[in-house]
Amino acid sequence: TGGVTTIDPGYKNTGSCESGITFLDGEKGILRYRGYSIEELAEKADFLEVAYLLIFGELPTTEQLDTFHSDIKKHAVVDDDVKKILDAFPKTAHPMGVLSSLTSALTAFNPTSVNVDSEEEMYNAIVRILGKFPVLVAWTMRKVKGLPLDYGDSSLGYVENILKMMFKQPNEEYTQNPILVNALDKLLILHADHEQNCSTSTVRIVGSSHAGLFASLSAGISALWGPLHGGANQAVLEMLEAIKEDGGDTKKYMGKAKDKEDPFRLMGFGHRVYKNFDPRAKIIKVAADEVLGDLGIEDPILEIAKGLEQEALNDDYFVKRKLYPNVDFYSGIIYRGMGIPTEMFTVMFALGRLPGWISQWREMRLRKEPIGRPRQVYVGENHRPFVDINKR
Ligand code: SDX
Repeated sequence: TGGVTTIDPGYKNTGSCESGITFLDGEKGILRYRGYSIEELAEKADFLEVAYLLIFGELPTTEQLDTFHSDIKKHAVVDDDVKKILDAFPKTAHPMGVLSSLTSALTAFNPTSVNVDSEEEMYNAIVRILGKFPVLVAWTMRKVKGLPLDYGDSSLGYVENILKMMFKQPNEEYTQNPILVNALDKLLILHADHEQNCSTSTVRIVGSSHAGLFASLSAGISALWGPLHGGANQAVLEMLEAIKEDGGDTKKYMGKAKDKEDPFRLMGFGHRVYKNFDPRAKIIKVAADEVLGDLGIEDPILEIAKGLEQEALNDDYFVKRKLYPNVDFYSGIIYRGMGIPTEMFTVMFALGRLPGWISQWREMRLRKEPIGRPRQVYVGENHRPFVDINKR
C-alpha cells in the first residue's frame, strides 16, 4: 500500500524492519505520517495531535486529545534529585549529553516504566516521558543561560508551556507570543518522525532487548547528537556564521565542499533517502521567511543560506550527487530568531522526534519483535594456527 514494494522476507533480523508509521519516497520527496501528508499536518494539525497520531495510529477526537494532554500534565514534574544531577554538570557540558543522561536517569525515579508488556503499562510510561521530557529540555536550556529552573503553567497548551518553561525570566509577566508558539509547533511536527533513520533505528534496537523506554530514548538522543545526523542543525549555523565572518563568500565554501584533498561537508545538504528534495526543508524555508518577517528580524544569515542553496542547485558537483538542503538547513535560522542558543538546536530536534521514537518503540514492542541482531559480511582472515610470541 502507499506504493511500498514487497520486502524480501529474508530481511528479518538484518537491521531492516516492517513499519506502518511513516512512509518516505526519496525520489518523489513524499513524507507521510500514518498516511497523512506532512504538508497537511504542518498546516492543519498541532504537535500534540500529531504525537497522538504517530503513537496510536489515528487522529484523535477532541475528547481523546484532552484526555491525552491531561494524562501527560499529571507527570509534568521531575524529582528534585534529578535537579541535583543537572546541577552536577559543568556549564560547558553539551546539552545533548545532559539530556541523554537525564533521560536515562529518569528510569531510577520511574521504575514502573521498565517492564512494560501490556498496552496500559506502555501508555503509562509514554505519558510520563511526554510530561517530563519538555521539563528536561527547558531546564537544560535554562542551565545554558544560567536561569533558575521553572515549571511553567499547566493551564497552557503543550507547546505554549514548553516556551514558557524555556524563556520565562524570574518575576516576569510572561506573555505568549503566538508567532513563536506557531513556529515551534510547526517545527516540532516536521521533526516528529522519519522512518528508520539513525536515531530511530537506535531506539528500536535498544528497545528490542527490552531495556526500558527511557533507556532506549536516551540511546536515541546520543545517536541524534552526531553532526551527520541531528547535530547538523547546530553545525549549519556555525558554518553560516563562518561564511558571514568571511565576508559572505559562499563560492569559497562551495569550492571547499568539492576539495577532495581537504573534505568539507556543506552542513544541511544531502540525505540518505531524499535524492531530489526534502519536503520538510521546503516548508521550513517558507516558515523562516514568515517567522523572521513577523518578528521584524533582518537576519543576514538567512540571505547567505538562500545564496548557498541557489549556488548548490546550479552546481554540477552537487546536482550529480543529488545534494539538496535537508531538514537541518533552515531550521536553525528559525530557532535563532526565537532566541534559542545554537547549542540547544539539536535538543529541539530531539523534542520534536520524541513522539516518533516512542511510536516506533511501541510498534516494535506490541508486535513482540525478536531482539535486533543485524548480521555481517565477514571480510577478515581465514582460519590460521596460533604463533608463539617468541616466533612473531
Ligand atoms: C538528518 O536519515 C534521516 O532521515 C535523517 C534525518 C531525520 O529526519 O532523521 O533526515 C535528519 O540527519 C538529515 C541529515 C543531516 N546531516 C547533514 O546535513 C550533514 C551533511 N550531510 C552529509 O554528511 C551527508 O549528505 C549525509 C550523511 C546526510 C548522507 O550521506 P550519504 O548519503 O552517505 O552520502 P555519502 O557520504 O555517501 O556521499 C556521497 C557523495 C560523496 O562524494 P563522492 O565520494 O561521491 O565524491 O556526496 C558527497 C560525498 O563527499 N557529499 C557531500 C555532502 N554530503 C554528501 N559533499 C559535500 N557536502 C555534503 N553535505
